[in-house]
Amino acid sequence: MRGEIMTKIAVLASGEGTNLEAILEAAEAGEISGRVVLVISDRKKAPALDRARRRGVEALWLDPRPYRERAAYDRILLEKLQQARIDLVVLAGFMRLLSPVLIKAYSNRIMNTHPALLPAFPGVAGVSEALAYGVRVSGCTVHFVDEGIDTGPVILQEAVPVLQNDTEEMLHRRIKAAEYLLYPRAIELFCRGRLRVEGRRCYIERG
Ligand code: GRF
Repeated sequence: MRGEIMTKIAVLASGEGTNLEAILEAAEAGEISGRVVLVISDRKKAPALDRARRRGVEALWLDPRPYRERAAYDRILLEKLQQARIDLVVLAGFMRLLSPVLIKAYSNRIMNTHPALLPAFPGVAGVSEALAYGVRVSGCTVHFVDEGIDTGPVILQEAVPVLQNDTEEMLHRRIKAAEYLLYPRAIELFCRGRLRVEGRRCYIERG
């Protein structure tokens, strides 16, 4: 990629890291014209950290316990991101709310994937609440992160049908399968400079 500036990506993950894995695979396959150079977790034993290490990506555990306030933790996080000259922050199952300090510094440069069709079912129980409500269609939403809970501009969405005998686990598994395709696509659009945000709306420019 000589002559081209590669987008430097950091992924923040608290858990399994299967979305992280899909992103790393897509990047290795050349489907993302950016490089994941840093993975950070707030949980020491997050499988996401091992997944990163196995693929030779720097993996960092940042323990939140010494910080009484969210903003204090986020300042350290921000320092790490800036030291690594990160252009895009990708949240993949990161179970902490971000404070304004981070969101302002990376305005429209932080993405998240949510396992429901926003604005329906925001928050941590998106899959079970959709199931309990009885919707016929749910899905996933990749969006930019603002200061609300799952309220930022929508980048891409994909519908996933809810089946009659679905359990939360079954539905979440199919939603995740959709996320594995959708998230790398959204990241690639960002890397190509094709996303433009105006107010609530995110426009995709022609490639
Ligand atoms: C995903 O379903 C994502 O939508 C939600 O958390 C889950 C993370 O799963 N925010 P994994 O850690 O990527 O397997």
